[in-house]
Amino acid sequence: MPEQKIRVLIVDDIAETRENIKRTLQFDTAIEVIGQGRNGREAVELCAQLLPDVIIMDINMPDMDGITATEKAREKVPYVQVVILSVQSDASYMRRAMLVGARDFLTKPPPIDELLAAVHRAADKAAEERTKVTQQAAAAVAAATPTPKKAALTTTGKLIVIYSPKGGTGRTTLATNLSVLLKNQDTKICLVDASLQFGDVATCLNEQVRTSIMDLIPRVDEIETDPELILNVMIKHASGIHILAAPQHVSDSLSVTPEKFSKLLDILRQQYTHIIVDTSAYLSDPVQIALEKADVIILVTTQDFPAIKNSNAFFMLVDQLKISRERVLFIMNRVDKRNRITPELVSERMRQPVALAIPSDEIVVTMSLNSGVPFVLDKDNKNSAIAKSIAALAELAREKLAKLDDFETEVVIKK
Ligand SMILES: Nc1ncnc2c1ncn2[C@@H]1O[C@H](COP(=O)(O)OP(=O)(O)OP(=O)(O)O)[C@@H](O)[C@H]1O
Ligand SMILES: [Mg+2]
Repeated sequence: MPEQKIRVLIVDDIAETRENIKRTLQFDTAIEVIGQGRNGREAVELCAQLLPDVIIMDINMPDMDGITATEKAREKVPYVQVVILSVQSDASYMRRAMLVGARDFLTKPPPIDELLAAVHRAADKAAEERTKVTQQAAAAVAAATPTPKKAALTTTGKLIVIYSPKGGTGRTTLATNLSVLLKNQDTKICLVDASLQFGDVATCLNEQVRTSIMDLIPRVDEIETDPELILNVMIKHASGIHILAAPQHVSDSLSVTPEKFSKLLDILRQQYTHIIVDTSAYLSDPVQIALEKADVIILVTTQDFPAIKNSNAFFMLVDQLKISRERVLFIMNRVDKRNRITPELVSERMRQPVALAIPSDEIVVTMSLNSGVPFVLDKDNKNSAIAKSIAALAELAREKLAKLDDFETEVVIKK
C-alpha cells in the first residue's frame, strides 16, 4: 500500500504568502497541499470539510484570528495539528497559541528546513492522535452504551488548605512550591487562590490572569457535568499544575458566596487528586468554607508574638468549629536560629507541636519571586535547605492524609 501523504491546509490572508508556502512544501513529496484558506473562519470550515493532518496558520487575519481558529478547528477535528506562522516572535503570542493547542510556532518567513521539519513533526503527532481517537471510538462502541460525561468525574481529591491568621507569613510561597512538589505522574494538582481580593498566586508563578474563578462561579451548577469547561478556565503552569486564579477585580470577590465556593470545591475534588488552597489571613466566608472542608490544614506561624498569639486563637476556633486538631499541620516559616522564639519553645507554650521549621532564606525566595520559577524547581536552588524543607512538608502532608484515610476506614469498618 502506498504510504499516505501528509495532508496540509494553508491559511493566510495574503495570497502571495500562501503561494510561497505552497511552493516550499512542494519540495517534499511526502506532503500534499489539499486546500488554502484566507481567514480564520475559512480555516475552520475547510478543516471540517477536508480533514487535513496539519494546518499552517497565520495569526493576524481578518474575520477570525489564527489563535481562535486553531481552537475552533481542533474542536471540530481533535487530531489536527496546527503550525502557527507569525511575524511576531512574541512569547505571549506563542504561549496563547500553545494554550489553544497549537503544535509549533515559527516566525515568518520560516526557513525551508524548519518548516518541513515542523510539518513532519505535526503530522506524526496527528497520526498518533488519530489512532487514539479511533481507539477511543472503538472502545465506546464496544461499551455499547455511550459513557455519560459525568462518568469522567471519579476522583475524590484531597483538600489541603494553607492558612495563617496573620498576613505575610509565607502562605503563597509555601502553597506554590508545595503544589509543584506534589505534582507527579500519578497526581493531578489544582492550586486555588482563595485570597479572593488580593490573591497573587498566578503572579508569583509568572502567569497572566486571563481566566479566573469568576469564570466558574456563575456556572457552578453546570460545570459538574462539564470537566472541559473547568479545564479551560485553569491556568496551566509549566510544572503541570493547574491554577484557579483569584478574580481580576477586587469587587468580584463578593459574588463568591459560601454555597457556590463550597460546591466548586466539591467539583474540583472530582477532577483532581489534590486541591491546594491558598488563603487570606482574613477569615472570609470562602476561607472558612475551605477550612471546614479541608482534609489537612497547614497552619503557618512565624517567630513573633503576634503570629503566635493569632495561631493560638486559631486553634480555639478550630475547636469551636469542631475541626479535629489531627487535621492541622502546625508549621513555622522564616525560621532564623538566632531568634529566641524557637519552634521548641512555641510547641511547649502552645501545647501544640510545631511539626516543621522552614528556614528563612531571603535570597532564594526573592530570586524565585523575581523569576517566577518556584525555588523547588530551580536547578540552582532545589537543593537549598528551604527547598528540602518544602519536600519535608510534602511528605508530612502525604503522611497525614494517609493516616486520616486509615482512621476513616477504621471508623467505617467499626460502624
Ligand atoms: N522562608 C522564607 N524566607 C525568606 N522570605 C520568605 C520566606 N517565606 C516567605 N518569605 C517572604 O515573605 C513575604 C511574604 O510571603 P508570602 O507572600 O508567601 O506570604 P503570604 O502569607 O502569602 O502573604 P499575604 O498576606 O500577602 O498573602 C514575601 O516577600 C516572601 O518572599
Ligand atoms: Mg499570599
